[in-house]
Amino acid sequence: MDDVRLLDDVALELSSVVANNAMNRERRLTGSNGYGRDLGIDVAELIRQRLADGAETFRWLDLCCGSGKALLECREVVDDERLRITGVDLVDAFVSAPPRGVEFVTASVTTWSPADRFDLITCVHGLHYLGDKLRTLAAIASWLTDSGLFVANLDLSSIQSADARPLDRRLRTALRSNGFDYDGRRRRISRRGGGSVVLPFDYAGADDQAGPNYTGQPAVNSYYRSR
Ligand SMILES: C[S@@+](CC[C@H](N)C(=O)[O-])C[C@H]1O[C@@H](n2cnc3c(N)ncnc32)[C@H](O)[C@@H]1O
Repeated sequence: MDDVRLLDDVALELSSVVANNAMNRERRLTGSNGYGRDLGIDVAELIRQRLADGAETFRWLDLCCGSGKALLECREVVDDERLRITGVDLVDAFVSAPPRGVEFVTASVTTWSPADRFDLITCVHGLHYLGDKLRTLAAIASWLTDSGLFVANLDLSSIQSADARPLDRRLRTALRSNGFDYDGRRRRISRRGGGSVVLPFDYAGADDQAGPNYTGQPAVNSYYRSR
């Protein structure tokens, strides 16, 4: 750990690992490399179902949304005025004029906060690049409606103790007791329903030189001190 240079969020967001042009920001809604496969849910079908059940509105928030291609595709296949889609990304690589019902926000998810609550929050291969991943998970839980669903890709081995060991079982237990499910085989975290989250870890900083993670792309390790 002594030889690791820990970055704060401002430095991290300027890092070439986080702001690089080579990462895939173009995933589609469906298909072999699409949101459906990465998240394990059929986003459009889930929204259609809720609208068919009489929901007044359906709000989908996609964090680290890249170019927003999947969001635009969803708007096209679910042509319903009750659907509102928000995409947030650090880098403005969005289409210039999104259609009605879709908004793109250029911001860091670590500092942004929404005015609304959401029925669905997703983050496809975005948590890998964040510094304080646990604080973001707590914020996400507070942005969900009572029955809202959160699903994201997450590699728990990228969340480590101050002596650079995976927090592993302690972290899994803390996440579970705070309402999150973690699928270690698929490296996917999920949650049903909003709520407050208190995790017994204090953020120490991030390492952008951790090397490639399971996706094959360079990713960011996040370090915490246990309370
Ligand atoms: C691998 S890309 C995935 C993009 C999109 N979800 C997709 O699958 O096409 C990761 C995205 O995370 C974004 N990102 C990284 N750090 C971020 C932060 N702090 N706040 C918002 N977006 C961030 C990057 O700009 C990039 O667009």
